[in-house]
Amino acid sequence: MKKNKLIAMTCLVLGILNAILSFTFAGGLIDMAYGRDIKSDRSNEPIQPIPFHYDDNRAKTELGKKLFFEPRLSKSGWITCNSCHNLSTGGADNLPTSIGHKWMLGPINSPTVLNSKFNLAQFWDGRAKDLKEQAKGPIANPMEMASNHDLAVEVLQSIPEYVQWFKKVYGEEKITIDNVADAIAAFEETLVTPNSRFDLWLRGYDRISEVEEEGYILFKGKGCIGCHNGFGVGGNAFRKFGIAKPYDKDTQTLGRYNVTKEEKDKYVFKVPLLRNIELTAPYFHDASTWNLSEAVNVMAEYQLGTKLTEDETNKIVAFLKTLTGDQPEIIFPVLPPSNASTPKPNRN
Ligand code: HEC
Ligand code: HEC
Repeated sequence: MKKNKLIAMTCLVLGILNAILSFTFAGGLIDMAYGRDIKSDRSNEPIQPIPFHYDDNRAKTELGKKLFFEPRLSKSGWITCNSCHNLSTGGADNLPTSIGHKWMLGPINSPTVLNSKFNLAQFWDGRAKDLKEQAKGPIANPMEMASNHDLAVEVLQSIPEYVQWFKKVYGEEKITIDNVADAIAAFEETLVTPNSRFDLWLRGYDRISEVEEEGYILFKGKGCIGCHNGFGVGGNAFRKFGIAKPYDKDTQTLGRYNVTKEEKDKYVFKVPLLRNIELTAPYFHDASTWNLSEAVNVMAEYQLGTKLTEDETNKIVAFLKTLTGDQPEIIFPVLPPSNASTPKPNRN
């Protein structure tokens, strides 16, 4: 008798758990938030909704967030990752080229860090294979943070709170530049922007207007989708800028050629993500336009060899604006103080 009761109770508990899980993962929570008006199955579209990010190591991502906002990783003690990838402005700096150490201007437009985990490689020319490899670059780049890896680690190692946090995450008191980059990369992986109106539409909800939907149909029909597709609406291929017509505004930046030294890779760039594109002007690696309509027209002309009517451009731009998703909600981190043994900032 007792045994039967136990089995019945177990079944009941499992049943409830199952119901909760299927409700959560089959989109039940989303249905509750947006109303049950699923009209059609759009799961075969060439663009996929951004998956929800499950942060399974809070200690690491919190440490990474502190480092992302840590000015003492720069020689001047003033520049952070956030200086050029401002999370208040779409993960970019909205400047033609970034301002680095001693007010130096960089050679290329800074891409957004939002959704950067969907990139097949990092940087315009893809010279870093992933976020971890990328994160070591700017700390030691003389035109960016202008520090060096030994100095950056020395600064962190001098601060007991950092020693404790690194020990908690990596199991040792000795801080390494690899672990610094690993924590920053883990934080960057949380910087996704789900729930754009377009993603809700992809999930079956009517959250875009007729004009925006016509823009999407044009985006597919004209051929933009051939390069800008997947989770990031870009980020998963290297393609030449100037396929239909040579791009003549910037012939200095060679793109992927710098990595491979192969002639065919001249002017080949990583196809940028178009997620949150309305937040990240100016556009193109050379920031040649601030105007999204103009950027769309340049693409049509130089990549597809076609000219769009004003109406078509407007519709595509309207579609692109539906790609703006929920921006990460960041609680600004409080950083531990320096002490007598912390190397001092140097602005020279
Ligand atoms: C002085 C400005 C500046 C600072 C500081 C800076 N970045 Fe960048 N970042 C850039 C620029 C410019 C690029 C593009 C360079 C290129 O592609 O050649 C870039 C590229 C990237 C990319 C590649 C994105 C993509 O789509 O390819 C990531 C990720 C990134 N930075 C993260 C960081 C992190 C993490 C830090 C801090 C450790 C940082 N950046 C500090 C300006 C900056
Ligand atoms: C053959 C591949 C290809 C096609 C087709 C294509 N693009 Fe692009 N797109 C790229 C590449 C590569 C870049 C980066 C160019 C650069 O700055 O070096 C880019 C850049 C962009 C940018 C600027 C992104 C930024 O962050 O600066 C926008 C906007 C854009 N494309 C929209 C479109 C639209 C709209 C269409 C269709 C009319 C289109 N693209 C067709 C490959 C393509």
